[in-house]
Amino acid sequence: MAEKERVPSHVAIIMDGNGRWAAKKGLPRLAGHNAGMLAMKEIVKESSRLGINYLTVYAFSTENWKRSQEEVSGIFRLLIKYVDSELRELHENNVRVRILGDYRKLPAAAAERLEKTLETTRENTGLCFSIALNYGSRAEIVRAVSRICADKDAGRLDADRIIDEELLSRYLYTGDENGNLPDPDLIIRTSGEERLSNFLLWQSAYSELAFTDVLWPEFTPEEYRRILKQYQNRDRRFGGRK
Ligand code: IPE
Ligand code: IPE
Ligand code: MG
Repeated sequence: MAEKERVPSHVAIIMDGNGRWAAKKGLPRLAGHNAGMLAMKEIVKESSRLGINYLTVYAFSTENWKRSQEEVSGIFRLLIKYVDSELRELHENNVRVRILGDYRKLPAAAAERLEKTLETTRENTGLCFSIALNYGSRAEIVRAVSRICADKDAGRLDADRIIDEELLSRYLYTGDENGNLPDPDLIIRTSGEERLSNFLLWQSAYSELAFTDVLWPEFTPEEYRRILKQYQNRDRRFGGRK
């Protein structure tokens, strides 16, 4: 990989294609989600190795509740399995885990595991690994606005405090409650779909987008490095001109 300073600081990934991977192999959808968890483990490790500061993954959207009960509960069972088997290693690797989204609405066993993970890794200073769970951008923005109004009403915000971009940002899941994550430099989506599906709509204003046909369970560190290399050749202008 090229010099460290050119590695994006924050990479966000829409991990898509688990179901199609399973169908391709004649396996149940949950086998696809299991294989997806394994791919995720490798990408977390590779992100640490490459010196990426923030990795954010989209694991379960507010819209994914529309899937069958069997699939939804299976995904949360796999999440518990992942936390149980990986927490020690994540902690040893100095990874700090964060959750974006209303994870308290998840089944209690999963929510408890997540609380424990947040608690255990709270002081870690290495890769910041954020998992978007029961996350949707529109819900996030509505929640931010409601909380700003509530804080104004309760006098926790000065009555004359102007509502600007900085203030709204602080009320998002990526804001104060999670240490104010920087906006993603690069958003990757696997499986050939080219849309954001309600992921980080506010935060992606100037993110570079990368799409690959590879299905998430087949996403390897090599493919990851290929995309990062491509990112390094892009010209980010943020609306200005030299
Ligand atoms: C992504 O894979 C994982 C989740 C959305 C939970 P999908 O399950 O969306 O896989 P496809 O899109 O059906 O192939
Ligand atoms: C987006 O994928 C959500 C996650 C990857 C967790 P979906 O598969 O749910 O998105 P759509 O339905 O293709 O837009
Ligand atoms: Mg999908």
